[in-house]
Amino acid sequence: MVRLSDLPPGPSGAQHARLNAEFFKRDPLGFLGQLSDTFGDVASFDLGTGPIVLVNDGDLVRDLFRFHEAHMRKPRFLRDSNRGHWGDGLTTLDDPDVWRARRYQLLPLFRAALRKPRLLIAAELARSMAESWAGRSSVNLPHEIRLLTARIALRTVIDADLEGYADGRGRSGLVPFAEGYGEDFTSPADITPGALRMTRPRAPKDMDSVRSIIDTRIGDFKDRGDVLSALVQMHLADPETLTRQDIAGEVIQMLYAGHLTIPLALTALWRDVHDYSLDEQVAADAMTIDGAPEPSAQVLGASRTMAILRESMRLSPPAPILYREVSRGFETAGCQMVQGVGLWVSPGLLHRDTRYFSDPSNFIPDRFAAGRIPQTAAKAYMPFGAGPRVCIAAAQSLLQMTVIIAAITGRWSLTPSAAEPEVFDLQPRI
Ligand code: HEM
Repeated sequence: MVRLSDLPPGPSGAQHARLNAEFFKRDPLGFLGQLSDTFGDVASFDLGTGPIVLVNDGDLVRDLFRFHEAHMRKPRFLRDSNRGHWGDGLTTLDDPDVWRARRYQLLPLFRAALRKPRLLIAAELARSMAESWAGRSSVNLPHEIRLLTARIALRTVIDADLEGYADGRGRSGLVPFAEGYGEDFTSPADITPGALRMTRPRAPKDMDSVRSIIDTRIGDFKDRGDVLSALVQMHLADPETLTRQDIAGEVIQMLYAGHLTIPLALTALWRDVHDYSLDEQVAADAMTIDGAPEPSAQVLGASRTMAILRESMRLSPPAPILYREVSRGFETAGCQMVQGVGLWVSPGLLHRDTRYFSDPSNFIPDRFAAGRIPQTAAKAYMPFGAGPRVCIAAAQSLLQMTVIIAAITGRWSLTPSAAEPEVFDLQPRI
């Protein structure tokens, strides 16, 4: 039982919970911003689900993620939502030792040397999607990008095609649309506390085709250059350390990890490109990037497009709040973090904080020119999280999104439709 006297200042306690929850539901970042303005960088509140502490200071946040991950775990609503029905993967593993061992096991699958073939796949599929838009005057952009993300994930993770998009090149399987694209899922009330309802794409209950591909590949190993090949190799070398169930959990999480984040990031990007008249800059880059025979991480990293993307992810981070709860009490910067308390960090707030970004509400891609992250911003800029649990695919995702932007922008100019927020009008690039 957490005592109120143990908590940092804030409108804590049951009497405030309903009002807090209503405000939070209406405007999550507005609520957290006001909380921090009123009560300071470490403030507590309650949404009807128990006490939560917001930490909103770059140094403290860095401290938390760097030194205290072992004292925290993902809250239950997040674990349950991510875990779905097939067991754990990296995002949901709680036991610090189990998580650390798995992270070390999987890190080599994301090393720089393996990025090129994955970027080639992303470029090929993005081009084919952009070409398939011929004859259309508009697209639902998040839907199109999610389709593309699903196709790229299936190819790079399990060398499979999405139903309806096979190219007849004998991959390791064809995954039904329902499994590859997933369903939009609103967490039911029993696993989502109070106001925290989230709609996110999620794998359906039965992932039979994906499971069957995993089983076939374990039974008859052949290196296909995808993530699953590496996982099966690890399993065959030591079946105890990475079981078939572990492989299924990791594969399904990797298939889905980009389904919400990448469409959100790219839809915001095209909105910003339009709002800040950056179309010509991105189009100029597209000639270099999409015209090159092979994507070069160095060229992509230093490109104007990547700087624009990083700035867009600053103002619209796909994961605006990072959630933890204290699993073992600890002290940081004079504050007691009591076991059972929720701990939230908000990239959405930190990214707009004048202590870390000058003129934070303006869109200034030069902050990230030539692949740099400004020193003052390093402790606060975290669109992919921070510390040891930072997104394992952060570098790969940034490069992949840059390649996708170039493939689409080289062919089309996109304008947000006035009528529908997700629809973008298409103008062919001449
Ligand atoms: C725009 C794209 C993406 C964004 C913005 C993003 C963001 C994030 C964030 C913020 C975290 C940390 C969450 C936390 O601390 O609670 C995370 C973790 C993770 N992400 Fe991503 N992600 C993206 C794409 C991907 C993709 C494509 C994959 C596929 C492999 C992936 C796999 C993971 C995994 C496995 C973790 C958990 C790492 C761990 O706990 O050790 N992400 N991501």
